[in-house]
Amino acid sequence: MPGRPAPRRRTVLSAAALTPVAGLGLTACSPDDDGAAPARPTAPVDLGADGEVAKGAATLFPDGNVVVSRAENGSLKAFSTVCTHAGCPIEKLEGAKLVCPCHGSEFDARTGEVLHAPATAPLIELPVEVKQGRIIASPGA
Ligand code: FES
Repeated sequence: MPGRPAPRRRTVLSAAALTPVAGLGLTACSPDDDGAAPARPTAPVDLGADGEVAKGAATLFPDGNVVVSRAENGSLKAFSTVCTHAGCPIEKLEGAKLVCPCHGSEFDARTGEVLHAPATAPLIELPVEVKQGRIIASPGA
């Protein structure tokens, strides 16, 4: 099972900029127990400049295990790209389709919905916003 890639410098905000999220717990396996990636980021993640996600498109940010899509009206949606089947990080985006390398599940990057089994649960939606021209995804609930 693939390991979780080490975050690059821009992936995780500096410790000074982070606010601990009370009650945040991992909702899936952590790398310590069976090698699966955490289902949610553990802190807000700076994904890059706002312009990196075009209207009507989706962009995969594999270092943060997040996919972000932008509707035609400009609104953003973000989903964890940790597969809901067995926790593999998804690192392949074909148009708007995410393909899991482990057992072939497919998800819609715009809605998080399952397009192809064995996964049955949709991807976890993450809060996302633009702050000072940067796309920031948060762990959420
Ligand atoms: Fe993704 Fe099994 S972990 S299909």
